[in-house]
Amino acid sequence: MFDFSRPIDRRGTGSLKWNQPDPAVLCMGTADLDFASAPAIRQALLDLADSGMYGYYAKPEAYYRAVTGWYGRRFGCHIEPQWVLNAPGVWVAARMCIDTYSQPGDCVLVQAPHFSPIARIIDCAGRRMVTNPMVLKDGHYAIDFADFEEKLRQYRPKIYFMVNPHNPTGRAFTAGELQRLVELCDAYGAVLVADEVHSNVLFDGHAHHPILGLGQRAQKIAVLITSASKAYNIMGLTYATVLIADEGLREQFAAAMGGYSMDFATNIFSVAAMTAAYSPACDQWLDELGAYLAGNLDFLCQYIAAHIPALQVIRPESSYLVWIDCRQLGLPPEELRALFLERAKVGLTWGEDYGPEGVGFERINIGCARATLEEALARIERAVKALGAQ
Ligand SMILES: Cc1ncc(COP(=O)(O)O)c(C=O)c1O
Repeated sequence: MFDFSRPIDRRGTGSLKWNQPDPAVLCMGTADLDFASAPAIRQALLDLADSGMYGYYAKPEAYYRAVTGWYGRRFGCHIEPQWVLNAPGVWVAARMCIDTYSQPGDCVLVQAPHFSPIARIIDCAGRRMVTNPMVLKDGHYAIDFADFEEKLRQYRPKIYFMVNPHNPTGRAFTAGELQRLVELCDAYGAVLVADEVHSNVLFDGHAHHPILGLGQRAQKIAVLITSASKAYNIMGLTYATVLIADEGLREQFAAAMGGYSMDFATNIFSVAAMTAAYSPACDQWLDELGAYLAGNLDFLCQYIAAHIPALQVIRPESSYLVWIDCRQLGLPPEELRALFLERAKVGLTWGEDYGPEGVGFERINIGCARATLEEALARIERAVKALGAQ
């Protein structure tokens, strides 16, 4: 049994999540975990550090075996070793896909709410973002397929950039939803780029369906970007695995990698960590993490329902980021932010970072010791109640 319950003080360590100037603030924003990574990953890094040999290396066969083994073992999805490419991070891979599969001025279609880096990347690449707002009904976000097709028809985007499981709504799209998205993208000639970085923690029996496991039509048009980073808390090793089944799409991405000399050598610490993360040696740690996070999620849902009913939790199907509907409080974004940050002293990821559809919502990261979550919720409860007393 691994112990996730011991709070680790990350203040003053340079952690981006814990970089608040006010030390009293509990930081529950940025998507990393307040847990030390799996022991097998730590050991792989220690062994490499201890070797003293940090020159250029080819990625070992064990790395490819670990990636393909992971997809078979956890998702029942067959991946060929030659489909496995890489980039130094998920957003970098997203930008490379945009540069590779579209031209300046082209449109890129994304679901809304969408995380602000996506909008920035599309904008910096000189492309135009078109959004397909999801529909929130009874605490559940659904894809508006009629709007999706209309956007494909009207704007002819070269790329549909999908985040599955979705940040911030936590939706893990069903195989049926994904098939419809694939059919529509294929019909309208859009490359489907799937960011699946949040696929390794799932709740309540929900499943993750890797886009390349959905048959030949999906394999013809899809690029799958993922990483073990979010689940194993190794984001600082900045690495993404890029899986492409179609030869044409793969050659184009490989050429882009060559253009940055990324085909030559890769950070050996990242590769060592990914090889360990995707190997069976870490499975138990990840399963126990999932169970601990499920406990945190239940605690959060029960606490808010019982003590802060003005907030509505959008129960996520995956990951450790929880989208909270605060619209009942009736506060504009800056006052909502002040309520959490200045009165409750809890730092969150602010809803307006997710575009207009995020206004009135906030995102809380439950990837922390239960005691920290309990303290944050008690503070939020007091601040919201004080609001009513004004
Ligand atoms: C959906 C999604 N994609 C990508 C990233 C960032 O990945 P990376 O740090 O590898 O660029 C995040 C970080 O929160 C994310 O939520």
